[in-house]
Amino acid sequence: MTDSLDQLEAELLAAVADAGDLDALERTRVAALGKKGAITARLKALGELAPDARKAAGQALNAVKTKVADAIEARKAALADAALAAGLEAERVDVTLPPRPEAEGRVHPISQTIDELTAVFADMGFTVAEAGDIEDDFHNFTALNIPPEHPARQMHDTFYLAPRADGSRMLLRTHTSPVQIRTMQGRTPPLRIIAPGRTYRCDSDMTHTPMFHQVEGLVIDRNIHMGHLKGCLIEFCRAYFEIDDLPLRFRPSFFPFTEPSAEVDIGCSRADGGLKIGAGDDWLEILGSGMVHPRVLAHCGLDPDEWQGFAFGMGIERIAMLKYGIPDLRTFFDSDLRWLRHYGFLPLDLPSMAEGLAR
Ligand code: DAH
Repeated sequence: MTDSLDQLEAELLAAVADAGDLDALERTRVAALGKKGAITARLKALGELAPDARKAAGQALNAVKTKVADAIEARKAALADAALAAGLEAERVDVTLPPRPEAEGRVHPISQTIDELTAVFADMGFTVAEAGDIEDDFHNFTALNIPPEHPARQMHDTFYLAPRADGSRMLLRTHTSPVQIRTMQGRTPPLRIIAPGRTYRCDSDMTHTPMFHQVEGLVIDRNIHMGHLKGCLIEFCRAYFEIDDLPLRFRPSFFPFTEPSAEVDIGCSRADGGLKIGAGDDWLEILGSGMVHPRVLAHCGLDPDEWQGFAFGMGIERIAMLKYGIPDLRTFFDSDLRWLRHYGFLPLDLPSMAEGLAR
């Protein structure tokens, strides 16, 4: 009896250890401990023994029963762990894999250019400021030292909204310069912002669209001078066009809101009808700039004896066309998917100074 009980125990424990999955383990449990199981049968048979023998045999049998039941529980836990681990392994996602390039969507060159110039200016410590497309006369003109009757107002071909109760008319901003005013009014210097956004002029031909984009820049601090303006714009142009020795020329100019004012030209060459940016014998105007006029500072409540600054503004379509060789301005706003597929950018290749602007 003892021998056969030891043998039974060994067989059952081996069967438990061999069970390869939860179903096999359940079959083993039923075969040992179920109603008609081997151990159950022996427990039932105890009644046929003499009382003395029954006690010893019962204890031995119960010990085996407990051992087998424990082994089944342990095996069950091990199989469950293994199943979980296998599941996790099979469903593993490698988050370090590069993303799949999108087959269809493309980033519009305007958005791409804004992302690129934002990356360059962010690297120089600028933040992005925004204001609405609908402006009042004060922020778009007067505060910028363009009083009523100033000839510069005619040049702007302004879109006006219907008159309000007091007779004044709101307008679609004709440049991003009003963001300078709102920034100086709303924050305390020192300031270092760029303001990319939409602008509007009632003008439409080969080289003008009624809606276009500009980016404004404004730096206000103590002891700011023309050297800071030059350094900042040289750095920007070389980084944006990705030409380390790009020549720049600062040409005296006039804007009501800056004094002195300068237009910036970049070097280029025109050979065989093609335009190439970089060292050459020709120049191409790309932006307007200057030292913020003391009267503009005063309009914003800043003391011109304490604060100085420089500002600049440029057309985003223009610098996009120059960098990416896009010949026709009006195609930017045709929403032609073939054009977008050709000139657009992959959505996940965000421009950065570390990874590169255009990839
Ligand atoms: N607002 C000017 C325009 O639309 C561009 C400009 C020129 C902005 C000089 C500036 C600046 O901030 O300093 O033509």
